[in-house]
Amino acid sequence: MNSRVILDRRPDGPITTDLFRFDETTIPEPGPGDVVVRNIYLSCDPYLVGRIQTVFPVGEPVAVRVVGVVEASANPDFAAGTIVWGFLAWEEYSLVPGGRALTVVDPSLGPISHAISVLGMPGLTAYVGSMELGRPTPGETFYVSSAAGAVGSVAGQLARLAGARVVGSAGSAAKCSHVTDVLNFDACFDRTGPVGDGLDQHCPDGIDVYFDNVGGSTLDAVLARLNPGARIAICGQISTYVERGDGLRNIMNMLRARATMTGFSIYDHTHKLPTFLPRMSKWLADGDVVYVEDIRHGIEAVPDAFVGMLDGDNLGKRLVQVSPDPT
Ligand SMILES: NC(=O)c1ccc[n+]([C@@H]2O[C@H](COP(=O)([O-])OP(=O)(O)OC[C@H]3O[C@@H](n4cnc5c(N)ncnc54)[C@H](OP(=O)(O)O)[C@@H]3O)[C@@H](O)[C@H]2O)c1
Repeated sequence: MNSRVILDRRPDGPITTDLFRFDETTIPEPGPGDVVVRNIYLSCDPYLVGRIQTVFPVGEPVAVRVVGVVEASANPDFAAGTIVWGFLAWEEYSLVPGGRALTVVDPSLGPISHAISVLGMPGLTAYVGSMELGRPTPGETFYVSSAAGAVGSVAGQLARLAGARVVGSAGSAAKCSHVTDVLNFDACFDRTGPVGDGLDQHCPDGIDVYFDNVGGSTLDAVLARLNPGARIAICGQISTYVERGDGLRNIMNMLRARATMTGFSIYDHTHKLPTFLPRMSKWLADGDVVYVEDIRHGIEAVPDAFVGMLDGDNLGKRLVQVSPDPT
């Protein structure tokens, strides 16, 4: 049987596990041109909040990035046993009509889960936000929020490779120790205390680049501490996905600092994957970038793994493994 996680109703407040229910269907059979994927790693991402609030159909499995293995195929491009990734769903098996939007994963590049983590969307997001929008230079102060997470952990390490002094924030002292001791950031402070105090302590010379994953009062605190010519990359605003917050009071400092703030969506940058993949693979192989995946197990773990990630219980990229990894 095929167990699936179904969106049972739309939220009217925080995202909770009771928004989801499980069902079982028979394992699909491929029609002409179709591919059936046995899903292995399911992604849990913050952007799903907006889709759950307004986009995903109620009564259907939640659509996410998945790495899996071709279980059955009536498509000559995808032989049984091929490792693939694609936009599939929180379910154990996915029917992919025509094999559309499946990408073959090269297992020689490292763990196949990397196709939806450091060698996929989160890694490319960090690369674009840090290197193309932030453009840190040696000696500059680079601050990234959600520094222990899937995107932030890479964003900071890339800025460090560029020679910047890198400061992060995360949701606990233990996560901050990971950020400094394992990811080699110069400093990290606990965001559950006053963020302004953390910035004053760890960015005494002001902020040249801010990689924003959270928005809200953290962004406002950064605006008050911008250096001339500062760059802000608006990657995400997770603190406002459910509650909108009080708005920004320090935006005038953008003018004083002649700063730039640029929002970006990774969907506009996917054509960069072919040049990004070898660079990131080399950084990983050389130990210049350390990547941590936080993997839960079993389809029944999905709702809790997702909601827990939104609440900050993840260290690195949150995935759920729902079947054996053959590699
Ligand atoms: N622009 C794009 O194309 C793009 C692509 C991918 C992701 N994103 C965005 O990038 C951000 C990070 O995504 P991710 O996948 O790497 O997730 P993640 O950082 O691995 O996980 C989410 C983290 O957000 C932090 N958080 C939750 N509520 C918060 C709050 N109220 N204030 C501050 N921090 C809070 C928690 O970490 P702590 O408790 O440790 O702070 C939690 O672990 C998200 O905003 C996401 O929407 C954007």
